[in-house]
Amino acid sequence: MMSQIADEIKNEIKKRRTFAIISHPDAGKTTLTEKFLLYGGAINLAGSVKGKATARHAVSDWMEIEKERGISVTSSVLQFNYGGYCINILDTPGHQDFSEDTYRTLMAADSAVMVIDASKGVEAQTRKLFKVCTMRHIPIFTFINKMDREAMDTFELLDDIENELGIATCPVNWPIGSGKEFKGVYDRNTKKVELFSDTRKGTTQGEVRKIAIDDSGIHDWVTDGQLGQLKEEIELQDGAGARFDQELVSKGELSPVFFGSALTNFGVETFLRHFLAMTTSPLPRTSDQGEVDPMEEKDFSAFVFKIQANMNKAHRDRIAFMRICSGEFEAGMDVYHIQGGRKVRLSQPQQMMASERKMIEKAYGGDIIGVFDPGIFSIGDTLTTSAKRFAYEGIPTFAPEHFARVRQMDTMKRKQFVKGIQQIAQEGAIQIFQEFNTGMEEIIVGVVGVLQFDVLKYRLENEYNVDIRLDSLPYEYIRWIENTETELDKLTGTSDMKKVKDLKGRPLLLFVNDWSIRMTMERNEGLVLSEFGR
Ligand code: G4P
Repeated sequence: MMSQIADEIKNEIKKRRTFAIISHPDAGKTTLTEKFLLYGGAINLAGSVKGKATARHAVSDWMEIEKERGISVTSSVLQFNYGGYCINILDTPGHQDFSEDTYRTLMAADSAVMVIDASKGVEAQTRKLFKVCTMRHIPIFTFINKMDREAMDTFELLDDIENELGIATCPVNWPIGSGKEFKGVYDRNTKKVELFSDTRKGTTQGEVRKIAIDDSGIHDWVTDGQLGQLKEEIELQDGAGARFDQELVSKGELSPVFFGSALTNFGVETFLRHFLAMTTSPLPRTSDQGEVDPMEEKDFSAFVFKIQANMNKAHRDRIAFMRICSGEFEAGMDVYHIQGGRKVRLSQPQQMMASERKMIEKAYGGDIIGVFDPGIFSIGDTLTTSAKRFAYEGIPTFAPEHFARVRQMDTMKRKQFVKGIQQIAQEGAIQIFQEFNTGMEEIIVGVVGVLQFDVLKYRLENEYNVDIRLDSLPYEYIRWIENTETELDKLTGTSDMKKVKDLKGRPLLLFVNDWSIRMTMERNEGLVLSEFGR
């Protein structure tokens, strides 16, 4: 039955744009984000978000704690308004911070912006994150950054994206030169050239100077050689490249590509404008009772995608970050926690802003909020005020890439050890596995980024008073067995393969290399292996 949804709420949701920025470290994600915020008026001058170690991590007190520990495991959300839109940017931590949270953040986004360094093309981290985007079929937009530096050939860059990531590309604009010879970008739609200007210093906004390609004045800016090359390249691209198709963009099969230079603030606003028009407002989400469409479901619903633990050591409190999928949120409201089977009050709701954490009164479908969690929520849990009590589809477990055997130094502290490691696993910071045939005696920990090993050791020592030793294992690949009827005893793998099970008792296989996976597939007909645990 369709329930009436107030226009006011509908409008709030319609103007939401919630996206994640993905990139390999140093491609320019922070710089681009900072320029976005500038256009939204969320910060006065570029530079406030910058200085990763200082400014960005000083945004909240719990991050302060992490700074003390010398680690960072937090990803944040920034909200600002621009051109009638309310924009939520989800930051996906890169570098050594890379963890499962990075992947999970993508589950909360409706689209993704991929930043690529023009001199490097597609890099490792982008490839990993991209996989999650394609799994979800969300729109992906490409910003090819650092055009003010010597760049790869434009066709080569596009080929790289198509071949490495398996997505078709459609350049919305086309660069003229690069590095010292960078003259700007040609808009394939308007047939105008946006002339390069470096507005790094002093100005709050990028300077936009445009000139039609057939205007004789163009020769004052662009050399004949470059104009000739541009015309040739455009002709080639028009003839052989994919055409813009909004439907394919929405399905995540075609990525609109833009060129620019975040540092000099060139091409950023152009990108932002096009991107906002081509991307999507909050999308329907799958639940156990079918799709929940924010334009049809009037009641509040949300799912937890991230749990930030122990902001206060004395209280073991946590913040659960949730993505609102439908309806309106009001501070202190009572909602039904599906997995817990009871009503809870969502208290101390907060939102991360550009420079601070602030308490909020209201939020809408598409927004991300963090609420106080007394230790009852798990990743993937659903909260709703709907009488239908549906549960959103869970968040898959992503394949860890580093494994270690955990040994407890003091066997007398068995209980604390098991409790601690289970709680930390519940928050989703690590995954734990057991030998297939034995119990909890042998525990194997799997992580997406090696930093999580240090986090685990630190937290067990400090919060649970348990010392551990981690012996790293040679495995690099883990695969869930999709066809669970497979009898694990009868499975014949390679000699270096290991059979384990996860906390839910699901069977998994650990491999040292790609070759072992292929051999095992060959030796066991019909075996279906997956990189995601559902
Ligand atoms: P990330 O968040 O993706 O890791 O990248 P970030 O924005 O921190 O950028 C990485 C480096 O690349 C920074 O330089 C930044 O100034 C530079 N950069 C970003 N966009 C552009 C661009 O369009 N052109 C050029 N030439 N450089 C760009 P850094 O020296 O590592 O840091 P900093 O000393 O400038 O802070």
